[in-house]
Amino acid sequence: MPTSDPQRRPRVVVTAKLPGGAIRPLRDACDVDLYDGPEPMPTDLLAERLATADGLVCFLTNRVDASMIDAAPSLKVIADVSVGYDNVDVPAARRRNIVVTNTPGVLTDATADLTWALILSTMRRVVEADRFVRAGKWKGFAFDLLLGGDLKGKQLGIIGLGRIGQAVARRAVGFGMTIAYVPSPRAGAQPQEQFDGFTATPLALDPLLRSSDVVSLHAPSTAETKHVINQKTLMRMKRSAYLINVARGPVVDEQALAWALREHIIAGAGLDVFEREPEIEPDLLTLENVVLLPHLGSATVGTRTAMAQLAVENCIAVLSGRPPVTPVP
Ligand code: GLV
Repeated sequence: MPTSDPQRRPRVVVTAKLPGGAIRPLRDACDVDLYDGPEPMPTDLLAERLATADGLVCFLTNRVDASMIDAAPSLKVIADVSVGYDNVDVPAARRRNIVVTNTPGVLTDATADLTWALILSTMRRVVEADRFVRAGKWKGFAFDLLLGGDLKGKQLGIIGLGRIGQAVARRAVGFGMTIAYVPSPRAGAQPQEQFDGFTATPLALDPLLRSSDVVSLHAPSTAETKHVINQKTLMRMKRSAYLINVARGPVVDEQALAWALREHIIAGAGLDVFEREPEIEPDLLTLENVVLLPHLGSATVGTRTAMAQLAVENCIAVLSGRPPVTPVP
């Protein structure tokens, strides 16, 4: 494995434990500097360790900024163990010819499944009902107890119809829903209606918000998507509609959402991601019509293992002078 000194094994910083023995191939090929504390690796410690590293395997909780990248002269690869890579300053890495990789594909199904867990638990008030039972409030079957919303014949509106958005849409067919989506503004991407396993109507953001019964967010966190859901856009949604976010917190203005839920501007929300994780807008914690999860989109044993394996494969490939399997676009 080439380094500036051919006798030296590459040094790779890994910012948290990897599941399922995924770290083994890395240990075989490199000197691994593993941070295995219970909290995310402190930023100053990461900067210090990165300064002499050839590779980095990191997570979305590690902010890898330009100053850190510029202070790491041997760094060749940043292998993010996540599909979203907004935690890494990719332009700064590119300026230094450092390859950045992520883990698309392997987490698509798990994340789409969790999206549906949130849709169903939000619309059918599952978490609220569980709290009700545990609080000893249930006095027996009642015809009008904890009524929720129906899915069949309703419209699922997807913002961000990439891999995960499409997997969510495919599952919607089984629930008898129609599907609409906001076409990506990416150059050359033509709106279409036919996809693998479903048909979907392309709509601009406003008509999608006005006509959808469930709005599900699957767009990356970028300057363009910041606070796409805000007070104004929430007011365009139906009062009976639900908002689901398994993408990234900054896509939603959390204060505006708390207001919309409190004032019943929309019926409910299911959130897996937050603007300042693990902090949550305090108002959201007091509301019954929102389900809050601690960023579990890809959290299955099999998926997290596959993500770690893919990141390790990417890291080893680059340090061996081979092309990465899944470089960020
Ligand atoms: C999780 O949020 C990921 O981007 O993989």
